[in-house]
Amino acid sequence: MTAGKLVVIEGIDGAGTTTQTERYAEHLRARGLAVHTTRQPSRGPVGSFVRQALGGEVSLGGALHAPLMALLFAADRLAHLAAEIEPRLAAGAVVLCDRYDLSSIAYQTSTAPSELLASGEFEAWVRSLNRFARRPDVTLVVDVTPEVAERRRATRSGKPDIYEYKELQARLAALYREAERLAPGDAILHVDGDPSLDEVTRRIRAALDPLVLG
Ligand SMILES: Nc1ncnc2c1ncn2[C@@H]1O[C@H](COP(=O)(O)OP(=O)(O)OP(=O)(O)O)[C@@H](O)[C@H]1O
Ligand SMILES: [Mg+2]
Repeated sequence: MTAGKLVVIEGIDGAGTTTQTERYAEHLRARGLAVHTTRQPSRGPVGSFVRQALGGEVSLGGALHAPLMALLFAADRLAHLAAEIEPRLAAGAVVLCDRYDLSSIAYQTSTAPSELLASGEFEAWVRSLNRFARRPDVTLVVDVTPEVAERRRATRSGKPDIYEYKELQARLAALYREAERLAPGDAILHVDGDPSLDEVTRRIRAALDPLVLG
């Protein structure tokens, strides 16, 4: 059995990562590949706790909220890798993961207070927390303009999470466009996520198929 591939899909809230992850999984399954879709934060115990924090049900850390969230996201990532991702990869599956440590670097640096950012070490610290998380075979970034993503989020039901506000989403959209700087050495592809669902699906296939289908 050959080892599988870890494919990460990233983007701001409302970029369409969940929808496109499922669509790409269908496309691969139709070609006979074993595919596992998953997301971070995971459904595991640490991930479930992180989701409560994202929903605003628990709030921890005060002025140290951003580094605390970075620790929790990193802990969830290692638990998720061990329990769910690595076994699927070992069995030869393509694992499509909706968000990974690029999200951590983008979201936690964008929400850290200026005192923590002043020394310039914060981003490197978040990266180092994820140092034992295997690198994705490829990361696909779905770039959208913040206004487009905001309109899409408005069509969803449920309460927005703690990161879903306009100024932050605009900062994140700009950061994702320079994802190569945030994750040096990683294989990163960008797709414009502004067009229609079907057009974005087509572009994602065109970008990923050569790597995933080989
Ligand atoms: N290209 C597109 N054109 C129009 N609507 C879209 C497009 N992509 C996604 N949508 C719609 O926008 C909404 C948000 O999409 P989705 O949940 O996939 O985003 P997301 O990036 O996973 O968001 P989050 O990061 O908050 O989980 C859904 O209703 C989806 O159908
Ligand atoms: Mg989603």
